[in-house]
Amino acid sequence: MDEKPEIRPMPRIGDPAPVFEADTTWGRLALEDFKDRWVILFSHPADFTPVCTTEFLAFAEIHQELKNLGVDLLGLSVDSVTAHIAWVRNIKEKFGVKIPFPVIADSDRKVAGLYGMIMPGESKTETSRCVFIIDPRQVLRAMIYYPMSTGRNMAEILRVVKALQTTDQHGVATPANWQPGEPVIVPPPRTVEAAEQRLKQGFECVDWYFCKKKLK
Ligand code: BEZ
Repeated sequence: MDEKPEIRPMPRIGDPAPVFEADTTWGRLALEDFKDRWVILFSHPADFTPVCTTEFLAFAEIHQELKNLGVDLLGLSVDSVTAHIAWVRNIKEKFGVKIPFPVIADSDRKVAGLYGMIMPGESKTETSRCVFIIDPRQVLRAMIYYPMSTGRNMAEILRVVKALQTTDQHGVATPANWQPGEPVIVPPPRTVEAAEQRLKQGFECVDWYFCKKKLK
């Protein structure tokens, strides 16, 4: 009889990021090693595949901007360290780009299992294109999932990181399609009294529950 794969609950926004220790292209690393920094843990289906290669090139391109925001990148697939090494060497040789972040070799699918990176309806063995944005307290702040056929949008990943950092710094929210420098949403008031006051506070309000302000 076939052994049924263990079904774990998917991690949710606001949960502590599942802890792990794993072999990577930079040696053994643990989630704890990234404490006090933001980290983007992302999975790809397989080494030596074209969409994944474009993504590695694109992550390498935004790596410095992420570093400046205090964000580290950590890749993952179920391929071995040997395969990862061969692939990053190939990327350097063929595209002239050094991959500036470590990549987990999750051959036993332990980390993939903890984070729900394998979507059995898409592939029972490979990880989908998952992005986990983890804050310096190691709390999961955002998850973005893409199917294998669709390469990720780096501008959106950067935008989400900047939106989360802006939210944390200023106690605000960000509207649809927000870009850094644009007005932000003032959280809606929680009492009738606060709603009355809100309209007198000099924000750009359409109504008591819909106010924006510019950040200084
Ligand atoms: C790719 O990276 O090209 C790819 C990987 C797995 C499935 C489909 C495409």
